[in-house]
Amino acid sequence: MKIFLDTANTQELKKAAETGILDGCTTNPTLIMKEGRDYVQTLKEITKIVNGPISAETVSLEAEGMVKEGKKFAKIHKNIVIKVPMTPEGMKACRIMTKIGIRINTTLCFSANQALLAAKAGTYIISPFVGRLDDIGESGMHLIEEIRKIYDNYGFKSKILVASIRSPTHVRDAALLGADIASMPFKVYEQLFKHKLTDKGIKQFLDDWDKLQKGLKKK
Ligand code: E4P
Repeated sequence: MKIFLDTANTQELKKAAETGILDGCTTNPTLIMKEGRDYVQTLKEITKIVNGPISAETVSLEAEGMVKEGKKFAKIHKNIVIKVPMTPEGMKACRIMTKIGIRINTTLCFSANQALLAAKAGTYIISPFVGRLDDIGESGMHLIEEIRKIYDNYGFKSKILVASIRSPTHVRDAALLGADIASMPFKVYEQLFKHKLTDKGIKQFLDDWDKLQKGLKKK
């Protein structure tokens, strides 16, 4: 499963890229607003840090506008993937851009039927939002299971990107269910490394190493 960061913060992306684990990145208008910077400029910087798909989101509601925005973003770098919303206009834009070689990430997916339609429209990535479904008392992970089954039933090649991740448990469940990508906030990415027994083990090894050095000095 590929690991993406759901952020427009270049410092976070740099830190994750240094480990060699980072496979891509997703951005959206909210994340860009948090950074308070120009979208195109930020995307340009991200392409220098992230060696993999980088999603840039359109804000038009009509297909024509989405295509116009998409073409502008796609010119920045070959790794840019265009996000369109899961609407009839979004799917129209998906078809048009896919035909001219621009890869699409269909965002704001909340049902298996939406994922089916997006795959039929040729989306490169489908983004089901698990956290927002959990927030309203539905099961985000159940949706991932359904989409995996449908895509496998019909051999759809669209990649399932688990979006709106809130915790390491979401990441583990996504991997267990065979999702292709998990895109998470930096905080969750950092939590993935952690285990209290790892910390305890490191401390014990260092303490014992220290004891050994002191013992050797005495001899
Ligand atoms: C994914 O592409 C979205 O940008 C993101 O995962 C939304 O997450 P949120 O529900 O935490 O805003």
